[in-house]
Amino acid sequence: MNDPFRLSSRARRRRPSPIRELVRYMGMEGMLSLGGGYPNPRTFAFRRVQVDLAGGGTPVMLEGPELDRATQYGATDGLPALVERLVAWQRFKDGVELPAGGLVVLNGSQEGLYILADLLLDEGDEVLVCEPTYPGALAAFRSFTDRFVAVPLDAQGMRTDRLAELLDGRAARGERLPRFLYTIAGGHNPAGVTLSEPRRRQLVEIARRHGVPILEDDPYELLQLEEAPRPPTLQSLAPELVVRLDSFSKILCPGLRLGYASGPAAAMRAIVLHKQASNLHTSTFAQALLAAYLRADGPEGLLARIRANVQLYRRNRDAMVAGARRHLPADVRYEVPGSGMFLWFELPAGFDGERMLREDAEALGVVLVPGAHFSTQGGCRNAMRASFSMLDPEKADEAMRRFGEMVARERARVAG
Ligand SMILES: Cc1ncc(COP(=O)(O)O)c(C=O)c1O
Repeated sequence: MNDPFRLSSRARRRRPSPIRELVRYMGMEGMLSLGGGYPNPRTFAFRRVQVDLAGGGTPVMLEGPELDRATQYGATDGLPALVERLVAWQRFKDGVELPAGGLVVLNGSQEGLYILADLLLDEGDEVLVCEPTYPGALAAFRSFTDRFVAVPLDAQGMRTDRLAELLDGRAARGERLPRFLYTIAGGHNPAGVTLSEPRRRQLVEIARRHGVPILEDDPYELLQLEEAPRPPTLQSLAPELVVRLDSFSKILCPGLRLGYASGPAAAMRAIVLHKQASNLHTSTFAQALLAAYLRADGPEGLLARIRANVQLYRRNRDAMVAGARRHLPADVRYEVPGSGMFLWFELPAGFDGERMLREDAEALGVVLVPGAHFSTQGGCRNAMRASFSMLDPEKADEAMRRFGEMVARERARVAG
């Protein structure tokens, strides 16, 4: 079978940067380096950085040689001190042992979406997605193709029966298959659902049968709002077929722009060559801060912090769901999300989320995202996404009352 991660013709043209490839020599004990156009750290403005942690504990400090490394150019795949901790983090949270060279630190997982699309898509290739899906992924993919194949989802996540039908059908007819499958397995954005374990196993089995690689984008994996066991990651089920994107945006803070890709070493190497051409490496400063934080708190500490923070999201979700039950009519349908940050409202046929926003958001003082943005081909018009992450519980009832009024106004327009 073909290599699932065979590169696009664009990516095959890339050559390693001769200077970037010297970085590993330059860090060697006793090496007299005349390579690299590195500025001398003695000229840098910063001497010491101290970051106090929410909830107390020993502050995170960067100083001396560690601060020099944090403010100097670094290796393209990531600061070694951080890469090592991320490999341990993946082992700790997912039970996955990554291969050597199996991880690259990114400017958030969004960078991974863009790079993977660049690496894999040639003109005319299709991407297989769930409908609805994350618009940021569509934006990244649309830079390289406008061809999408959409599979619907339900409360268990992607409909794997429909996926099998689609791929088996195409293979039987000798037709071309989508170049890769994009999935948000946990706490789906926007649908709020989590792909169930049986579906995960089916999805991997179907993808394997057809040699279709999987891009597992999982920033909400750990934002579990219920005490249910976490299903295995797709990467843990099919390491040879999955490039996984992890993000610190929802579990630490998004402004540091830290995420990472992990998977087969050859695919990671292709990501490195892309970064050599596009941004050299992710901010060493942000990476050093995360490495120092992980050293202080450890994986157990980070997980405990996330679990404590999730209480806030759970209260927000419960308040919004209570408000929705009180103020929305029965023909507005939604699943109560077990993870993530989103409620996905499906409205009656003929309703138009964009029109509702345009006509009523300002007057009523409530904003939701129209569903059409989450569709590859103009579907989901009668849906809207609500984030509960930022709305305090005391405001949730009023927000749902206003949304209920928005629904009533749209109903009058549709009827009229
Ligand atoms: C499904 C999904 N993937 C990726 C991202 C991008 O996250 P990051 O901040 O890690 O780039 C988001 C952000 O909302 C998201 O919802």
